[in-house]
Amino acid sequence: MQIKQIAKRLVDAAWVARVIEVLDRRSDNRTTELGMLSQAFEFAKINDVPGDYFEFGLWRGKTFGYAYRMKRRYGRDNMKLWGFDSFQGLPATEKHPDNIWYEGQFACTRPEFEKIMGSRGIQRSEYELIQGFYSDSLNDNAHRRLSGRKAAVIYVDCDLYESTIQVLNFIEPYIVNGSIICFDDFYNYKGDPAQGEQKALAEFLQQRPLLHFIPYLDYAPLGKSFICRLK
Ligand SMILES: C[S@@+](CC[C@H](N)C(=O)[O-])C[C@H]1O[C@@H](n2cnc3c(N)ncnc32)[C@H](O)[C@@H]1O
Repeated sequence: MQIKQIAKRLVDAAWVARVIEVLDRRSDNRTTELGMLSQAFEFAKINDVPGDYFEFGLWRGKTFGYAYRMKRRYGRDNMKLWGFDSFQGLPATEKHPDNIWYEGQFACTRPEFEKIMGSRGIQRSEYELIQGFYSDSLNDNAHRRLSGRKAAVIYVDCDLYESTIQVLNFIEPYIVNGSIICFDDFYNYKGDPAQGEQKALAEFLQQRPLLHFIPYLDYAPLGKSFICRLK
């Protein structure tokens, strides 16, 4: 077996995930993306915010798998986990001044993703996947599948302005008072508000006077989360 394969297996092994979780639990207040997720789930518990977990941008499931653990930790038995991804990595995008991404980056096939989840003890019946590039997959059919659902925690980790604006337009009907939305790459592009997730969020909110996103926590190295309020 090649070293790369051994390393991948090690990273995906359930016991490694468990060690990370235990270590991370000791430092939950250190807000990295995993700490941020645990804060979001705790916020939802304290405030009794109803709804599911939506994640846009899964790659090999690090944050998605952790959200599953948080669902268990906080006893959210009725919460469904929804994952949205192309399973082909990033789409092609126009050139940006500070772009650090490339087409196909973070590709992980759906069977590979499901296998990784399985290796972490997460059964296929415990989550739902909506597959495809967002320009195709965030459609009426997806809304039908989500009919009647709300989102307590939304994790946006799709890196690009183009992807993020599609996500924001899609999730609007699932937002409730107290939904936490996390942007994993908010301060990317050297923090430029005219690029990436920051640009998408500003554009989205400008057209939605009845939606208010209250800044909640900044988390390392590039993330920021908000509490959603409907006016
Ligand atoms: C940085 S990775 C996600 C990392 C992951 N959350 C983790 O914990 O490691 C970005 C993901 O976003 C997905 N993605 C970005 N833009 C997309 C789009 N327009 N449609 C579908 N998937 C997209 C990519 O396929 C990739 O899996």
